[in-house]
Amino acid sequence: MDTIDANASDVDAADVNTSRRRFLTGATSVIGAVGVVGAAIPFVASWKPSAKAKAAGAPVKVNVGKLEAGARLVVEWRGKPVYIVRRTAETLAAVDALGDETLKDMTSIDAAQPSYIKGSARALAGKEDVLVLVGLCTHLGCAPIYRPDVGAADLGGDSWMGGFFCPCHGSKFDLSGRVYVNVPAPTNLEIPPHSYESDSIIVIGVDAEV
Ligand code: FES
Repeated sequence: MDTIDANASDVDAADVNTSRRRFLTGATSVIGAVGVVGAAIPFVASWKPSAKAKAAGAPVKVNVGKLEAGARLVVEWRGKPVYIVRRTAETLAAVDALGDETLKDMTSIDAAQPSYIKGSARALAGKEDVLVLVGLCTHLGCAPIYRPDVGAADLGGDSWMGGFFCPCHGSKFDLSGRVYVNVPAPTNLEIPPHSYESDSIIVIGVDAEV
């Protein structure tokens, strides 16, 4: 199985030009979204899952050893974009502070996620800094835009603690993929089955043994 490495050409840093991204990610197709998020040409060139993996929906290995704090990597698994985000301690504290006045399902009771995914971080125990989720809006399937920019004026100003914004109908999700109240998306973003082969290699599509 090939391993996809996180490197500078694959990721979106936190200081991206958000207005350009909003324009680019207006397209609704999954392939389009995967292609345009971040640096399109280097990403495609460095993204080489095997033909067998693509055909069979096999697990995908991703090396996140070089994924920097605040950065987001997009890989494909079973035809879906999977977002991998490296969070900071400050990010996790902000996520943990959000309550049900902000979030529709803060404890992820109705969310599609494995049983070993716990808490507000929605991550494996000991790996809370790494968020792994399916980048498809639970409303009608658009690809949410990564918006880690805390306080973004167009997303609520001081109340926006960073997260994901779906440009199709305005759904918002926090940096654990939990859906906000008063938006069309009904549930939190899906967390795919995943595990760690080593400290830095994630295997998407294989459940963790817990
Ligand atoms: S598809 Fe995301 S809000 Fe409608």
